[in-house]
Amino acid sequence: MDSSAAHPFARFEEWMAEAAKSEPNDPNAVCLATSTPDGRPSARMVLLKGVDPRGFVFYTNLESRKGGELAANPEAALCFHWKTLQRSVRVEGPVEAVSAEEADAYYASRARGSRIGAWASRQSRPLEGRFALEKAVAEYTLKFGIGEIPRPEFWSGFRVLPRRIEFWRDMPFRLHDRQVFHSEGEGWRVEALYP
Ligand SMILES: Cc1cc2nc3c(=O)[nH]c(=O)nc-3n(C[C@H](O)[C@H](O)[C@H](O)COP(=O)(O)O)c2cc1C
Repeated sequence: MDSSAAHPFARFEEWMAEAAKSEPNDPNAVCLATSTPDGRPSARMVLLKGVDPRGFVFYTNLESRKGGELAANPEAALCFHWKTLQRSVRVEGPVEAVSAEEADAYYASRARGSRIGAWASRQSRPLEGRFALEKAVAEYTLKFGIGEIPRPEFWSGFRVLPRRIEFWRDMPFRLHDRQVFHSEGEGWRVEALYP
């Protein structure tokens, strides 16, 4: 067990830093699973944009499919997989909205084109054709000109508050190493699992 055994966030940050050095792109890409209240799951990739002892943050369109599922059932699971490291991390727990200030700060850090894109995309709803999207981008580009681009009300972030974090490492003969951290009060209980 390494020095970060009792601190899942320290271990996560170590693994993420190693992934950032070895992955060819998007080391922060993570599969996000949500589900409807009656238990129909859906999964898609998002980018992790923040992590601290409160949880794991990503940003999206609140009116998207995932946004609707999280509004109705604020529970999620995340699964990172770093092929170059042969490691995976799984996170599960309830989800809360990030503050408006946090979302504003992240939105303001994005490229201007991405900020316009957030306005133009009615994410997850039917698109009549590529032209409709390009027209919307052109309209918002004209509307905002060279001025400030405010964050759309329908675009913000979620924080997954982990109640379980699993670290998985590839080992010979599929005898992988699995360490699970269970949130308990102020601390964490660590347990190993059969592969
Ligand atoms: C590597 C990668 C990263 C992505 N990052 C995001 C993201 O951070 N936020 C987001 O809304 N969509 C992101 N997407 C697009 C989503 O996977 C998905 O297509 C979109 O959010 C709509 O999902 P939904 O219809 O389930 O809501 C990403 C896709 C890929 C492949």
